Amino acid sequence: MLKKLVFIFFLTFNVSYFVYGIWGKTGHRVVAEIAKKNLTEKTLKKINSILDGESLPTVSTWADEIKSDPESRKYNTWHYVNIPLDEDYADIEKNKNGDVITAINECIEVLKNKNSPLSSKAFYLKFLIHLVGDIHQPLHVGRFEDRGGNDIKVKFFGKQTNLHRLWDTDMINDHMMSYSEFAENLDKIKFINTTLIPADWLKESQIEVNKIYNGVKNEDYIGYEYIYKNFPTVEKQLYKAGIRLADILNDIFL
Ligand code: ADE
Ligand code: ZN
Ligand code: ZN
Repeated sequence: MLKKLVFIFFLTFNVSYFVYGIWGKTGHRVVAEIAKKNLTEKTLKKINSILDGESLPTVSTWADEIKSDPESRKYNTWHYVNIPLDEDYADIEKNKNGDVITAINECIEVLKNKNSPLSSKAFYLKFLIHLVGDIHQPLHVGRFEDRGGNDIKVKFFGKQTNLHRLWDTDMINDHMMSYSEFAENLDKIKFINTTLIPADWLKESQIEVNKIYNGVKNEDYIGYEYIYKNFPTVEKQLYKAGIRLADILNDIFL
């Protein structure tokens, strides 16, 4: 009996640890891995020297990891932007601490500047690799009132979570695939239109987030049907983010 309880405890603990494993780590690594496969030799060389040999997937989650450091709290608003569903980014009052658009543009500017010190280049490159992923997660351009879906409770196969985390982590982890397996599979997606303008990426995420908000109510049960209908959007967004990250890096390090 005791053995059984201990077994159940560990099973529960591990499953919840996995589900809540703080796009989540896998999403960011998928984006970085797809980008890595699409870099030119020259870009890859320059990135390797800036990152001192660390790989793109490895550094892709760093910007989330530093959130726990009080010194880095000032960057927390860089990961998202809150926009009313029917408004344009250009028309909203901007967050004075920065948002995902201003942050991406700052990263590009610093990386393009030949006079930027190596330490700044490393900082902004790691942020850029992360934020191109974030801006493609539709809930990162969601409403202010519910903090991008963080305040909308849903049950994922009966387990309490929220709409934001569902799209960051839960649906991805449910597939039980590694980031490299995801990246390999997504290679088969035929994706044509690409653009180097972050405001265009944001507009596409806004269209997706509108559909997401319309497709769910507080306390909804999320199961196989929801995943079946919505996972193609996750895959499309991850793939676009990866290709666009490669495009922007190839452009910066031309
Ligand atoms: N992450 C933390 N706060 C957020 C917000 N208000 N919108 C989107 N993502 C967030
Ligand atoms: Zn983030
Ligand atoms: Zn998130």
